[in-house]
Amino acid sequence: MRKLSRSWWQGLFVIATVAATIVVTLISLRDFQREVVPPENRPIQSQIAGYVSSNACRACHPGNYASWHASFHRTMTQVATPQCLPPDMDKLELAFNGREYKAERRGDKFFVRTRPESGSYGEPQQVVLVTGSHNLQILWLDTGEGRTLQQFPFGYIVAEKMWAPVTETFLIPPNVKEYYSTGAWNGACMDCHVTQGQSRFVAGNKWDSQVAEFGIACEACHSEGREHMERNRNPFRRFKIHLTTKSDPTVTNPASLKGLESGLACGQCHSVWAFNGMADKIEFNRHGAAFRPGAGDLSQRFVVQPNAPDHTEQKDFIRRTEPDFFHNRFWGDGMIRVTGREFNGVQASPCFRGGEFSCISCHEMHLDSPGQTDAKTWARTAQLKPKMDSDSACLQCHKDMTARLVAHTHHSAESSGSRCYNCHMPRTTFGLLRAMRSHQVSSPNVHESIAYGRPNACNLCHLDQTLGWAAQHLHAWYNQPVPELSEDDRTIAAAVQWILKGDAGQRALIAWGIGWESAQKIAGRDWLYPYLIYTLTDSYAAVRFDAWKSLRTLPGFSDFSFTYTAPDQTLGEAATRAYKKWLGEVRNVNAVYRRETAIDSDGRVRQDVFQRLRSARDEKPIFLAE
Ligand code: HEC
Ligand code: HEC
Ligand code: HEC
Ligand code: HEC
Ligand code: HEC
Ligand code: HEC
Ligand code: HEC
Ligand code: HEC
Repeated sequence: MRKLSRSWWQGLFVIATVAATIVVTLISLRDFQREVVPPENRPIQSQIAGYVSSNACRACHPGNYASWHASFHRTMTQVATPQCLPPDMDKLELAFNGREYKAERRGDKFFVRTRPESGSYGEPQQVVLVTGSHNLQILWLDTGEGRTLQQFPFGYIVAEKMWAPVTETFLIPPNVKEYYSTGAWNGACMDCHVTQGQSRFVAGNKWDSQVAEFGIACEACHSEGREHMERNRNPFRRFKIHLTTKSDPTVTNPASLKGLESGLACGQCHSVWAFNGMADKIEFNRHGAAFRPGAGDLSQRFVVQPNAPDHTEQKDFIRRTEPDFFHNRFWGDGMIRVTGREFNGVQASPCFRGGEFSCISCHEMHLDSPGQTDAKTWARTAQLKPKMDSDSACLQCHKDMTARLVAHTHHSAESSGSRCYNCHMPRTTFGLLRAMRSHQVSSPNVHESIAYGRPNACNLCHLDQTLGWAAQHLHAWYNQPVPELSEDDRTIAAAVQWILKGDAGQRALIAWGIGWESAQKIAGRDWLYPYLIYTLTDSYAAVRFDAWKSLRTLPGFSDFSFTYTAPDQTLGEAATRAYKKWLGEVRNVNAVYRRETAIDSDGRVRQDVFQRLRSARDEKPIFLAE
């Protein structure tokens, strides 16, 4: 924000425009987007506390409005219209788990009919709400029970332009066919997917949910705006604030907060959190969050950090009532392993102790340098500040590292192996069908892989090397102790072990990671085919999906077609087809395979190694949602 520095001429101009703005504001206040006749079969936007909606901020902050409008926060939750629904909805016919579904269009509305295994199509249910806009779209149907929503069991994967059972769009054990129940939107999803929601439980499975705004809008990050707006209608006050550097007390600007408060403004949604107790849960459900951006704790809730000393009673309660809660969200050492919960990682980073480290160290929520890029591109690249996709993200604070880069990384300065992110924020979190950078700054070590099963940064790039190899260099370069290692850990590449015998979470990270160009460049491509082709038949759909996506990055397979949701037999046939193609058309007969990759000179996986690792696979069920 530009403050004091503006000239008096501009100041005069501000006064001149104030009058016009007042009028616009009065109009926009009256214009508050309450629905004229609120529909009764879905959650609605209504007047909640002092929330006035993004429309009301637009007149005075057109630039901020424009960049927010381009962001995916805005389109997080939308009322179902032909514009925001996947294309060709009216032709939709799908079957899953013994049921058939058929969509139809009437005017601008869409309906779905369901036919159970033995029976005929039931009454149409209207598609009323949509979650997500650019990775995955999930549709919600009315239920006739107040504003309670039912999940349409298929999700639309935007990049692939395909429908898949929702249970196959998250990392979910294959035997689980129905995961989310009726009322899940009201009882869970809306907590993070709207601006100031009130789920308002009525009775049975009936809800009367209302929200301030469906998108994640201005007031989610800046706090409710009524008072700010009313005060700023006074031109003198407005001018005074404008000329002083004092920040405006009626509204929260995350940029002027310290690390914890700034981080929590985002972490209210981007974290694993839980309620302090039953009374708080009921209060939250009735009246919405008591937390407002600017506060230093979540009020009725707390951020769940498994190993932190706080809220032990609540965490013990979770361990008793939901034994898999931690396992499905955190690695054994308490590091977050799912995406969309970045605050857990940021808060647990060593950098956070400095008091400045927060989301907006690297991200910006408004395009602060217009012209640098267009708003659509900016939204697609995670709304990072200029240069924050590079070492600058770290060097802005660790300034001394510039001079000792090569001495520190032991890789050449231009190498992918010298990029801070690749060693300190490797892709060890998973969600939305892909691996994502961990947001917990940590240093690579072999212990994390042995004790917690988390792929370390060295072996995530050097896919063809063993844990023993990484341990040796970490010892030589950083004086880390060399842990005791098994025979396999000294002779078989870590990635080979993870993809064959790892649990579903590890397999997913490697299936995705093999597609990473930096890793392919240093580890070679020839030996990757058999592993990816075998993984096309993995029992977890999300793992198959990533194996397929990575296979398509390899020469000869860029147009390989594969339906990852197909029945087992079809998956097997596709893998056979891929294998034949590889052996017959694609394989480089002169390729030399390193022993650690367990591939024979004729390009086949060594059967003894394969059988042994495969039969030792960790089959414990894993759920990883975003
Ligand atoms: C604790 C907060 C939280 C809860 C609860 C939550 N989500 Fe999310 N969700 C997020 C965040 C944060 C992201 C963004 C993740 C990213 O981009 O990496 C997200 C992203 C998504 C996306 C992808 C959006 C897009 O545009 O492609 C979908 C779909 C989704 N969530 C569905 C759900 C459903 C369904 C539920 C309820 C069962 C739910 N979420 C509950 C925080 C939450
Ligand atoms: C997801 C959170 C989020 C949303 C939604 C959001 N903002 Fe912001 N806003 C921020 C953050 C963080 C900053 C601090 C600067 C930055 O990161 O770009 C900021 C800064 C600002 C500022 C200070 C001037 C500036 O650009 O630095 C204004 C004014 C503002 N926002 C208005 C709005 C308005 C109006 C909307 C809705 C149309 C909105 N914001 C939506 C997070 C958000
Ligand atoms: C009547 C005009 C007006 C309206 C409407 C308005 N603002 Fe402001 N806003 C201002 C003025 C004036 C400032 C003072 C800062 C400046 O421009 O120098 C300001 C400053 C801000 C800041 C920065 C505060 C700081 O301490 O740095 C934020 C954030 C902000 N507004 C958000 C919003 C949001 C969100 C809304 C809608 C709910 C909104 N504003 C509606 C006039 C308005
Ligand atoms: C009210 C809840 C909420 C708040 C507050 C919030 N977010 Fe989000 N954020 C979400 C959800 C849900 C998504 C998924 C939207 C999507 O991708 O469609 C998301 C998406 C994102 C994305 C990824 C967009 C993409 O490309 O997929 C980034 C980056 C992000 N948020 C950062 C922030 C930062 C930084 C803040 C604080 C300044 C913040 N968010 C505040 C809920 C929230
Ligand atoms: C906002 C400033 C800031 C940013 C940005 C930042 N750090 Fe830090 N970092 C710190 C501070 C301050 C500490 C020291 C904390 C302490 O004194 O305990 C630290 C500590 C660390 C440590 C641990 C040092 C030790 O001796 O244990 C590592 C490793 C680290 N940072 C790496 C990174 C990397 C890699 C990035 C970029 C992804 C990064 N940091 C970004 C401020 C920052
Ligand atoms: C040290 C820099 C840094 C900090 C601090 C940081 N991020 Fe990120 N974040 C990144 C980078 C870089 C990416 C893109 C990763 C990629 O695509 O490879 C990213 C990606 C994301 C994404 C996924 C976007 C997508 O494409 O789906 C979300 C969501 C997100 N960050 C939210 C947050 C939140 C919330 C915070 C604070 C709690 C935060 N980040 C702090 C650097 C950072
Ligand atoms: C993002 C990829 C990446 C990461 C992460 C990475 N490296 Fe490298 N590494 C490379 C590349 C590329 C080279 C080739 C030489 C160069 O560019 O300096 C290399 C070369 C090496 C070499 C010398 C050549 C060889 O293959 O024996 C060693 C040893 C090495 N890396 C060890 C490590 C260790 C240990 C780590 C973790 C601390 C690590 N690397 C992390 C990409 C990576
Ligand atoms: C090849 C991997 C690799 C790369 C690339 C890398 N680091 Fe490190 N870094 C490490 C390891 C390993 C340690 C831990 C040393 C130990 O065990 O104490 C470390 C430790 C650190 C520390 C704490 C100790 C110290 O020497 O100050 C900081 C700060 C740090 N790194 C910052 C950075 C920054 C900033 C970058 C990018 C400019 C970067 N690192 C790039 C591997 C890497």
